[in-house]
Amino acid sequence: MKQIIIQFGGTGDLARKKLLPAYSALLKAGYDFHIISLGRRFSDQDSYAEHIGIAEDEVLMNHLHYVPFSMEDSISKRRLTAELQDLIGEACGIELIYYIALQPSLYESAIYDIRDIHDNLEGCQLKKKIVVEKPFGFDQESAKKYNDILLSVFEDQQIYRIDHYLGKEFMQNLLVMRFYNDVIKGIWNKHYIDHIQIIFDEVYGVDQRLGFYEQIGVVRDTIQNHILQIVTHLTMGEPVDFSPQEISHEKVKVLRSIPPITDFYLAQYASLKQSKQSSAPTPTYCSFKLTVDTFDFSGIPIYVRTGKMQKEAKSMIYIAFKHFRSSPDRSRDLPENAMIITIHPEMTIDLQINMKQPGSPWESKPVRLNFDHFNTFKVNTPEAYQQILEKILLSDKSLFPSMQEIMESWNIVSPMLRSTEVEQYDDKTLPSCAVSLIEEDGRVWFE
Ligand SMILES: NC(=O)c1ccc[n+]([C@@H]2O[C@H](COP(=O)([O-])OP(=O)(O)OC[C@H]3O[C@@H](n4cnc5c(N)ncnc54)[C@H](OP(=O)(O)O)[C@@H]3O)[C@@H](O)[C@H]2O)c1
Repeated sequence: MKQIIIQFGGTGDLARKKLLPAYSALLKAGYDFHIISLGRRFSDQDSYAEHIGIAEDEVLMNHLHYVPFSMEDSISKRRLTAELQDLIGEACGIELIYYIALQPSLYESAIYDIRDIHDNLEGCQLKKKIVVEKPFGFDQESAKKYNDILLSVFEDQQIYRIDHYLGKEFMQNLLVMRFYNDVIKGIWNKHYIDHIQIIFDEVYGVDQRLGFYEQIGVVRDTIQNHILQIVTHLTMGEPVDFSPQEISHEKVKVLRSIPPITDFYLAQYASLKQSKQSSAPTPTYCSFKLTVDTFDFSGIPIYVRTGKMQKEAKSMIYIAFKHFRSSPDRSRDLPENAMIITIHPEMTIDLQINMKQPGSPWESKPVRLNFDHFNTFKVNTPEAYQQILEKILLSDKSLFPSMQEIMESWNIVSPMLRSTEVEQYDDKTLPSCAVSLIEEDGRVWFE
């Protein structure tokens, strides 16, 4: 079946950095589809290709059509309809994939524009799908409203809600590691795990994306979606199989077992100047503690810290296991066993265990058993967006959160969205509130 992707926001940051490279990779891997890329800032295909840096990519350029497009503009709509009609031609059995990568304030008008355009197309066996970027809404209420609008034009099966973290290899790996290793399965519960830390630190600030980020903040940008999806992958029960329905069923159970988060701190880095005086500064950093009240995980604190303008980019999960024993010579406590899952800069998993210090009389030392993804498999895994787009082309919904997951996630972060208390932190330092969050419990962040 012929497939045409209609890329709203084709001139934006996401399209330039992630989507166009992923389309290029998929075309080179043998997929055959066309892309109609939309934007306002370029008037023709040549200047678009040159500015966006794809003019030399012959394969991509042979499948790409740039169309100047402005939302809710009748001339733009007619232009796009004509371009689509031209591409459809006399062919029978065509799938149109509408992909919205716009600022959230434009989502609604985009859906109505799509309805008008699609209804005016003529063709035999025209099918449609829609892909929508995160954040899905601003809170639970707006997410529901947005979904209702989507459902007035598309069926749920045709809607792909993106959280590109689900396209990351480490997320899929977490499920295989947890459910297909009986040793790990046996210790992955409250009897063995002491606590979990999730650390996602970025070195960059909001840069040119201030206008966009100002409306969003760290909770909507990463916590409601990426971080809570990581939590589900760490704590969900084993699905009957890895079908989208079964995975989602288990994730929803986890999300419904997490009470709305009340133990949290929000902060903003000092050099961020707000372009307009809002009632509260946009939070760029958040640290919080949550619990998953299921039989296996109740009582295990999960500490999370994530945000911008940090000294070092760090993406990792630290699983600390309970320890009851003192060292072999009984002189001190043993360091805890731990699993350290590093996602950035490299994907590695380390198991920290205690071994005997050579030459010493029964002195122990923590050492690490290491799995290095690249060294083991000798391949770079495809970028998350490539995996996500491939699934969309194949109509496979396994890497997309369901609407129920999204609604439950909004509920969990709702106290954070209401909070107006935002501390300031010096650029490139960890906010003091993040330090105290974990120290209050007698623990420290893993370094
Ligand atoms: N950037 C990322 O790394 C990233 C990562 C994950 C998810 N996302 C999501 O992707 C979406 C887009 O983000 P982005 O960073 O690409 O935003 P962006 O750089 O601000 O791009 C916005 C796009 O919207 C277009 N646009 C704005 N107003 C328009 C109008 N009235 N009519 C038609 N087009 C209009 C812009 O076109 P012109 O400028 O040509 O007018 C541009 O192509 C957001 O939902 C974001 O949350 C982004």
